[in-house]
Amino acid sequence: MIQMGLIELSGVSFAYPNGTQALSGIDFSVGAGERVAVLGPNGAGKSTLFQLFNGLLLPAAGIVTVNGRLVEKAYLKEVRRMIGMVFQDPDDQLFSSTVRQEIAYGLINLGLAGDRMEEAIAWALQMVGLSGYENKSPFNLSGGEKKRVALASVLAMRPEILVLDEPTAALDPIGAAKIIRLLNHINVELGITLVFSTHDVDAVPLLADRVYLMDKGEISLSGPTAKVFSRRDLIRAHNLRLPRVAHLAELLARDGDYRFPVLPLTIGQAKKMLLDSEDRDEIDVLAINRNV
Ligand SMILES: Nc1ncnc2c1ncn2[C@@H]1O[C@H](COP(=O)(O)OP(=O)(O)O)[C@@H](O)[C@H]1O
Ligand SMILES: [Mg+2]
Repeated sequence: MIQMGLIELSGVSFAYPNGTQALSGIDFSVGAGERVAVLGPNGAGKSTLFQLFNGLLLPAAGIVTVNGRLVEKAYLKEVRRMIGMVFQDPDDQLFSSTVRQEIAYGLINLGLAGDRMEEAIAWALQMVGLSGYENKSPFNLSGGEKKRVALASVLAMRPEILVLDEPTAALDPIGAAKIIRLLNHINVELGITLVFSTHDVDAVPLLADRVYLMDKGEISLSGPTAKVFSRRDLIRAHNLRLPRVAHLAELLARDGDYRFPVLPLTIGQAKKMLLDSEDRDEIDVLAINRNV
């Protein structure tokens, strides 16, 4: 069955008014329920691409459709309700003096009021693990908390698709791990489609089924996460690297110490492969070395 992507870009190009060609000939598709990463170095065009999804920018050439319908003026209101955008810098998104007002803003626009609005606010805060933060000022929160408030304000409007620009950027390791767990929970429990940009290669295998590798305004490579990371040459050619654990696996294989059946991309995958391995001696060696 041929299924139209929820978000579909075909032959899309875009240039900024100063002449910078930010996107050239982009073909891009996201299916319902998918978790899709747009991986690329700074300046690749990731943020520009995301602004084309909901008509914040319009293409110079090519076609952008959401749910099979062309993104144009008459469709913008509906598209912006379907697609929840979380910006890279929460300070660009947050402007109210309390967390409650921040989340209420979008809900009031949707016509919610009274108990229904309070319920939606409480639900969204509970989803992001910030229950009880209603009366705090967003500006006094930590970077990770600000990101979660921005996410709650978008989530409260019950989008079908969450588009997140660099969701783990500028977070400490705990904050990044929390947001990854939270986004996976949102995808699984609420069935919300995820599209996110990043240059954090360690986050990608934890949060993406499929990857678009992007550089200089073009898609260099796309496919299932494992397949994209198997193209080490291309990953490195675009100023990115393998996940740390994959690099370790590469070194062990190169030196003839240990060979994983397939390249592990997460610590969890590596652990499972080691425990499932027939070759227990190899594991013992690793276990001993780890305890030194
Ligand atoms: N408002 C703008 N005006 C002019 N050029 C821009 C603007 N925003 C981004 N660019 C340029 O467009 C290209 C893509 O930028 P961007 O989409 O922000 O990349 P990424 O998000 O991958 O870092 C870069 O060359 C950047 O300098
Ligand atoms: Mg960007």
